[in-house]
Amino acid sequence: MPSIRSICCIGAGYVGGPTMAVIADRCPGVQVTVVDINQARIDAWNDADLSKLPVYEPGLDAVVGRARGRNLRFSTAVDEAIAAADMVFISVNTPTKTKGLGAGQASDLRWVEACARQVAKSATGHTIVVEKSTLPVRTAEAIKAILASAEASGGDRSFAVLSNPEFLAEGTAIPDLESPDRVLIGGEHPEAIDALACVYSHWVPQERILRTNLWSSELSKLTANAFLAQRISSINSVAALCEATGADVREVARAIGTDSRIGPKFLNAGPGFGGSCFQKDILNLVYLCRHFGLPDVADYWESVVQLNTWQQHRIARLVVQKLFGTVTGKRLAILGFAFKADTNDTREAPAIRIAKDLLEEGAQLAIHDPKVEPEQIARDLSLPASEAPNAESGPTRASLSGEGTWWPSASVAAALEGADSVLILTEWNQYRQLDWTDLAQRMRQPAWVFDARSVVDPDQVHAAGLKLWRIGEGQP
Ligand code: UDX
Ligand code: ADP
Repeated sequence: MPSIRSICCIGAGYVGGPTMAVIADRCPGVQVTVVDINQARIDAWNDADLSKLPVYEPGLDAVVGRARGRNLRFSTAVDEAIAAADMVFISVNTPTKTKGLGAGQASDLRWVEACARQVAKSATGHTIVVEKSTLPVRTAEAIKAILASAEASGGDRSFAVLSNPEFLAEGTAIPDLESPDRVLIGGEHPEAIDALACVYSHWVPQERILRTNLWSSELSKLTANAFLAQRISSINSVAALCEATGADVREVARAIGTDSRIGPKFLNAGPGFGGSCFQKDILNLVYLCRHFGLPDVADYWESVVQLNTWQQHRIARLVVQKLFGTVTGKRLAILGFAFKADTNDTREAPAIRIAKDLLEEGAQLAIHDPKVEPEQIARDLSLPASEAPNAESGPTRASLSGEGTWWPSASVAAALEGADSVLILTEWNQYRQLDWTDLAQRMRQPAWVFDARSVVDPDQVHAAGLKLWRIGEGQP
C-alpha cells in the first residue's frame, strides 16, 4: 500500500486541530503540519502552557502534549508545508453565505477555493488533496478543476482529490476521533483511497473504513447532520406538546428510546441545537434541493431549522410571561453560553438568540460560562459588556431607559446575586451540583429557575422555595 510520510492540514480550527493531533499521535512515523493564516491561533497552538490551546476539548491537551515537537507542528508557513506534503487536508471554515446568490443557505466556499488555488500553486510531485470541511455536494469538482489546470500547466505535478468528512462532535472530539463509528473515504482513485485508509488503519479497524464515490461521501455528511438535527427538532416539538398537555418529555423520550428502531441517543429536549454544523448543513441541503428542482424536499428539511429557531424564541417568550409579562430592568442570570457542554465554541449557540430576545425586552443579564471568554459573548451579542451593578442597588439608569445590558459573571453565585430568575442553557456538569438553598437566598423573590437542559434536581429547587420551569414538563 502506498504510504504517506508527510501531511499538511490547512485550517487549525475545531476540526483541523484535534483531528491532526490524533493522526500525529497515532502515526508517529508521519510528519503532520497544521497551518493557518491566523497567527494568534497558531501561537496559541504552540503555547507551552497546554491550558491555553485555542480549542477546549477534554483530553486534547494530553494528545497535543505527546505529539507536538515530535511529529506535530503548527505553523503559518502555508506554502512551505504544502510543498513538503504528500497529502493536504482542507479543513477551513465554510459558513453560510450572508450575501449574493444563495445568501442565507448556500455555503461560502471562498476559503476552500483559496486553499485549492494555494495547493495548485505550491504542491510538488504527487499530492492527494482531502476535503475535510463540510462542503456542498460536488465541491470536489471545483477543487479538481483548479488542480487539473495546475497539472496542465506542465511540470511533473499530479493530484488526486478525496472526500473524508469528519464526524466528530465537539466536547467529545478526542474519543470520537480515537474510536470513530466509521471513517468515510470518497474518491475516484483506488490508490489515493488506499493511502488515506492506510493512515487511519494505524488505529481504526478495517471494517469501519467505508469507501464510496466522491458525491456519496459529501452527501453522507450533510445527511447525517440533517438526520441528527431532525431528531432534536422532533423531540423539541414534543416537549412543547408535553408542556401543554401534562406529559413529561423525559418520560416520553425514555419510552420511545427503548424501541430499538428509534434508540435512546439524541433525544434530549433542550433550547434547540447550536454548533457550526447542523443549521449550516441543513440550509445547504435545502439549497441543493431547490437547485435540483425538489422544492417539497427542500421545505421538509427547512422546517427542521424553523422549528429550532421557534424553540429558542419560545423559551425567551416564556421567561417574559412568567416574570409578570416584563423583564425590563430585571436582573436575570444565564448559566451557560457555549452551544453544548465541554466546549468553548459559541457558534449558533441557543444562548445567543435567547439572550438577544431578552436584551430586546430590556433585561439585565449576568452571564456565566466556565469556558467562553467575555469578549466572545460581546461579539455574539453585538453588545459590549457593562459594569456589573451592585446587587443591592436598584435598576440602573440604563435599565430604566429600557436598554438591555449584560455583564460576565465569574461565578454562579455572583450571577444569581439580586436576580429574579436564572436560565440554564448549557448542560455543564457543575450546574448539576448547585446548592439551591444557598443560591435562593441571593435572589429576589419570587424567583424562577428555568432549566432548559434538565440538569437540576426538581426536589432541591422546590425545597429552596424557588419556582421551577423544566423543558418539556407539563403540569399533570
Ligand atoms: C455535530 C455532529 O454530532 C457531528 O457528527 C458532526 O461532525 C458535527 O455536528 P456538534 O455540533 O459538535 O456535532 O455537537 P452535537 O453533540 O451533535 O450537538 C449539536 C447540538 O445539538 C448541540 O447544541 C446540542 O446541545 C444539541 N443536542 C444534542 C440536543 O439539544 N439534544 C440532544 O439530544 C443532542
Ligand atoms: P472548523 O470548525 O470547521 O474547524 P474553524 O473556523 O474553527 O472551523 O477553523 C477554520 C480555520 O481555517 C480558521 O482558523 C481560519 O483562520 C483557517 N483558514 C481559513 N482560510 C484559510 C486559508 N486560505 N489558509 C489557511 N488557513 C485558513
